Amino acid sequence: MNKTTNEIRQKFLNFFERKGHVILPSSSLIPHNDSTLLFTNAGMNQFKEFFLGQKKICYPRIATAQHCLRTGGKHNDLDNVGYTSKHHTFFEMLGNFSFSDYFKKEAIEYAWELLTSKNWFNIPKNKLWISVYKDDYETYEIWANIIQIPTERIIKIGDKNQSKYNSDNFWQMSDTGPCGPSTEIFYDYGDKPITNSVEFLENKNDRFIEIWNIVFIEFNRISKTKIVSLPNKSIDTGMGLERISAVLQNVNSNYDIDIFQELIKKVALFSCVKDLNNISLKIIADHIRSCAYIIAEDIIPSNENRGYVLRRIIRRALRHGHKIGIKKRFFYKLVDVLIQVMGTSANILKEKKEQIEEILKTEEIQFYQTLDKGLKILNHELKKTKNTILSGETAFYLYDTFGFPIDLTADICRERNIKIDYINYKLLKEKQKKQSNIKNKFHKDYSNTVIINDTCLFEGYKKHKTASVIKHIFVKNQAVQEILINETGIIFLDTTTFYGESGGQVGDIGELYHKNSRFIVEDTKKYGNTIGHIGKIILGKMQINDNVYTKIDKNYRHSIQLNHSATHLLHATLRKIFGKNVHQKGSLVNSTYLRFDFSYSKPIKLSEIQEIEHIINMKIRDNILIKTKKLTLEEAKKKNAMCLFENKYDSIVRVVFINNDFSIELCGGTHTKRTGDIGLFKITSQSSISSGIKRIEAKTGQKAIDYLHEKDNNIKDISLILNCNQYHIKEKIHQIIKQTKELEKKIINFQQQESLDYVKTLIKHANDIKGIKFISNIFYNYEHKLLRIIVDKLKKELKKTIVILINIVKNRFTIIIGVTENLTNDVTAISIMNIIMKKIHGNGGGKKEIAEGGGINTKQLPMILNHIQLWINTQLKNKKE
Ligand code: SER
Repeated sequence: MNKTTNEIRQKFLNFFERKGHVILPSSSLIPHNDSTLLFTNAGMNQFKEFFLGQKKICYPRIATAQHCLRTGGKHNDLDNVGYTSKHHTFFEMLGNFSFSDYFKKEAIEYAWELLTSKNWFNIPKNKLWISVYKDDYETYEIWANIIQIPTERIIKIGDKNQSKYNSDNFWQMSDTGPCGPSTEIFYDYGDKPITNSVEFLENKNDRFIEIWNIVFIEFNRISKTKIVSLPNKSIDTGMGLERISAVLQNVNSNYDIDIFQELIKKVALFSCVKDLNNISLKIIADHIRSCAYIIAEDIIPSNENRGYVLRRIIRRALRHGHKIGIKKRFFYKLVDVLIQVMGTSANILKEKKEQIEEILKTEEIQFYQTLDKGLKILNHELKKTKNTILSGETAFYLYDTFGFPIDLTADICRERNIKIDYINYKLLKEKQKKQSNIKNKFHKDYSNTVIINDTCLFEGYKKHKTASVIKHIFVKNQAVQEILINETGIIFLDTTTFYGESGGQVGDIGELYHKNSRFIVEDTKKYGNTIGHIGKIILGKMQINDNVYTKIDKNYRHSIQLNHSATHLLHATLRKIFGKNVHQKGSLVNSTYLRFDFSYSKPIKLSEIQEIEHIINMKIRDNILIKTKKLTLEEAKKKNAMCLFENKYDSIVRVVFINNDFSIELCGGTHTKRTGDIGLFKITSQSSISSGIKRIEAKTGQKAIDYLHEKDNNIKDISLILNCNQYHIKEKIHQIIKQTKELEKKIINFQQQESLDYVKTLIKHANDIKGIKFISNIFYNYEHKLLRIIVDKLKKELKKTIVILINIVKNRFTIIIGVTENLTNDVTAISIMNIIMKKIHGNGGGKKEIAEGGGINTKQLPMILNHIQLWINTQLKNKKE
């Protein structure tokens, strides 16, 4: 069989469809609602909650072709890309899944049939080798007795470092979560058959390439040391599409399959490289895939989290472009061919093509400005490096000043067999991070130590109060039986009306109470599938199993609801005005205002802000009924519902409608009944928070009216101060500005006249050092440019002079130093400036004859001037003698 990669993907899905599997689309590369992962790294991620039994899935058998990224965390292939023939940043994983349905035997039989049957992939059986987890006798038996693989080709793989389940044949998606033993199928690329396991182990990853991993999900890893059995057993398999294509297309390297060859040829056209085996070509071909798919998920290059992963990959690709002599911007031009080669997997790229190209182009322009300079410095340092270690300081300097991600520097060093002093690099980075006090939300989520595996019924869409039962209590992050008066902690209930912070909407506040006790809820957050009420007991105590009532603060919630519904109106309006490339990048909805971040690269005009407000206020006046419906994901998609930061793969989703054609969004948040409740929508600020991302902040209801009142009051105050009515404020301010300018002019004229007098006085009091006039003086509240005029005049009049003039305004000073040309062999303006600035820690610069500077340390100035005069004295003396 010599099929295209797109045909192979389809054939895999067809096979499993025939075996009763439902074919689902690839989930997003961003694992929403899972803070343990930065990017989707395996086909099973989207089903994590189903494996753990936290949610029930409607289909017991599923197959997918999942987009995956392995660029960090537990599974990181970035450094291998280009250097091995089998690793990629982005790849597609073909997988079949069974949830409490078939288990080991069928999973193995299906895999074997697909790989070896004449009707399917038709791979010779003797080319396949098997590995199993050493204690998994059942799997061994299935391979040996049912499939009848010769036992010398079934290899038992044990644990590393004698640590249980730390094995190549025990798979886990992340530091915590579903996991289990696995069996792997390898393809033998060798010619001469071998029959012993030692040779197999020596040549694993080289001659023997793993093509399929079948995982028997039986456990949940809770922490590094704790692993628990799951009630239901499931199957999770993964086969790299690129690897199986290489086998079926009879090529040794993934980079020789059709998709990569097309990309590599295109990159080669931009460069002067003829050899299509060039590593840089492979790296670029790999990286355009990950970059395009990441951007299609609305991630943009930045210095944090996912944005930084993206930036690192783009910059690495650009550096390789530079290395193979590509002089012009090229990376974004690969998107076209990528879309052509990716077949059905390119749908998401097609939708976002313009956005992807634009973002790549911008990053290219930005990085090329520093790439050359950074490379020169690095090359210079590498030449100087005597041992084989590049200093952490240089690596950090390149990162900090030229935007060189550490793996880019490492990539260059690797080409010359040089290592980086990572320890020092990391220390410097940590230091910088502490200084700028960067708060990293991703890590904050990680540090959340309350882990709870339970559910809670949310009744807060319709009610404010409900009766409930306490199920868990945490005090100081420890599970306890009771919480006592004045203690703070987290209470988990079986039912609640409190909304747990999510989707940008803040958590509710209110109280939990029963007869003799009250717990004030100060915040509400989600913990997995349950909801934590965070607060303090102010009366009595509460215990597990107590019956309590929940009561949210109605007014607080009402204000939040207005802001949430207004956020939907804003989102829809922005897309109407600015087009479908506007995508939500984040939002905050609380009781005082709403904040909405979105992708849009052009500046926003005042008239556009007014148009947005106008449309939204019209919708408010239309008093539209806001409806919510539970739909299947497919139905929601058909209605073009916008779907952000949600788990897109729940089979049933909640959709909020504001008219059937205006705003339709997947959303779990709480909303007001009718748009009219919002009363008024007013934008209070708009800004650009990073390249291509805008932020709008707005208020609604009474808060919007209060905001306008405050503005009104300000205007009234201003008109009182200006002594005019409010319609004449502008005119009055123009008048005042004009008057001020005229006054300034007069002062300057006056000072100019005065400066001539100063020149005379300064000449009179000049010190004479062997025929050279030394003049220094401190002025107060003077025009700095007049000092320049005075210096020029003094230099002309005195012919041989050194002048230092200082001007102090409030607690700051500026300084100007002049030296006539005939003295610059002995003393220069810039050398005097440097001495002064060293003593005073200010800033200054200039040349031999003139230098200027400034600072804040004014007290020391007289003393410094004395010191300088002495220094000049010796300087001139030394030179003359
Ligand atoms: N989750 C396993 C892997 O990624 C099998 O799909 O290898």
